Amino acid sequence: MKIILIGYMGSGKSTIGKALGLLVNIPFVDLDSYIEEKEKQTIHDIFKTKGEVYFRKQEHFYLKELLQADGPMVLSLGGGTPCFINNEKLLFNNTSYKTVYLNVSVKELADRLLIGKASRPLISHINSLEEMQEFVGKHLFERTVFYNKSEVVIDANKDQKTILEKLV
Ligand code: S3P
Repeated sequence: MKIILIGYMGSGKSTIGKALGLLVNIPFVDLDSYIEEKEKQTIHDIFKTKGEVYFRKQEHFYLKELLQADGPMVLSLGGGTPCFINNEKLLFNNTSYKTVYLNVSVKELADRLLIGKASRPLISHINSLEEMQEFVGKHLFERTVFYNKSEVVIDANKDQKTILEKLV
């Protein structure tokens, strides 16, 4: 069984995924880190030098590669990954995986992202909390339709221990 964590930037996919992997003794892979390793470039630099279209193509390629790998895995995706797949069966309603949406409020996301924006090309230009809230609110609204296709939705505004208990 593969457990796939999806959600907006800053929703805790990588942090929770890593902790969950350790807790249930299943290898953890972060798709963004996997892409960076394979492409030998940071996500920031891929966006800067090759653009988003190239990034989305590679993101899709590596996602499929990881999903086809044998064995259990906790896999955290990028915030946009589920919104750019051409076949939703890849992630949703698939008997080999459980896709979990980590749902976090706009306010909480904006607070977290103002601190963690530097490595995220889609939001690195945003400088104030007000602007961040406005951007995240609109962007999350567009993306929620994809995230909500998950069979499991977890309120991830809570502390890590509570989220992990629910996941287990
Ligand atoms: C993106 C989210 C990022 C990364 C890229 C694009 C997005 O991952 O894949 O910057 O489109 O939301 P995180 O959600 O881990 O920040």
